[in-house]
Amino acid sequence: MPHDPDRHVIEKAYARWAPIYDALCGPVFVNGRRAAARAACDVGGCILEIGVGTGLSFDDYDAHTEITGIDISEPMIARARARAKSGRYPFVKELVVMDAHALAYADASFDCVVGQFVITLVANPERVLSECARVVRPGGQIILVNHLYSERGLAAAVERFLAQKAQPLGLRPEFPFQRLADWALTHGGAELIERRRLRPFGVYTLVRFRRAEAQCAAA
Ligand SMILES: C[S@@+](CC[C@H](N)C(=O)[O-])C[C@H]1O[C@@H](n2cnc3c(N)ncnc32)[C@H](O)[C@@H]1O
Repeated sequence: MPHDPDRHVIEKAYARWAPIYDALCGPVFVNGRRAAARAACDVGGCILEIGVGTGLSFDDYDAHTEITGIDISEPMIARARARAKSGRYPFVKELVVMDAHALAYADASFDCVVGQFVITLVANPERVLSECARVVRPGGQIILVNHLYSERGLAAAVERFLAQKAQPLGLRPEFPFQRLADWALTHGGAELIERRRLRPFGVYTLVRFRRAEAQCAAA
């Protein structure tokens, strides 16, 4: 299996993706994005979206939320800023270039952290999850949506085959769910509360963690 992606490879890939991302990836990821945003709206309040990209998700939030978006890619977030300038999303508060491994926010700053199609692309997913857990308030949620490794059968074989070729493109098809579950166990301050394959084809999985009410040891 290939190792976790290098930050510079991802930055380079998304600089290339930025001009065509909405047209190509918008429709492909729409079900996953909507499901994650729906779950986040149920929590409501201040939401941090890591890897916000071009801001395609803005349409899926509402005025009961306040959205802060961060992304490592300047070209991607420039598009999110242009989208926000349309005036259609007054609930979008801030869009910042930032690495999800080192969030520049105080502990417990957000009610919810959302990561749509990003956790499999970061250099150290466990560290990013621990950062998410740090900035989410006790009782708040971390909500992820992604394609996760199929683990069995033909789909798993295809994903393993594609894995090496996909990383330079900023894609990663062979990330196992178990890593997310293991992180929660090791961290000790976040509980896995949902793992749901999304319809229609179960290609994407929604994963939710709840931050423990009492502060626990960070990873
Ligand atoms: C597949 S795109 C998803 C964009 C958006 N969430 C969506 O669903 O349309 C992945 C995004 O994660 C960003 N990203 C990758 N590594 C990151 C990191 N370490 N910190 C912040 N953003 C990162 C990329 O720049 C890219 O914009």
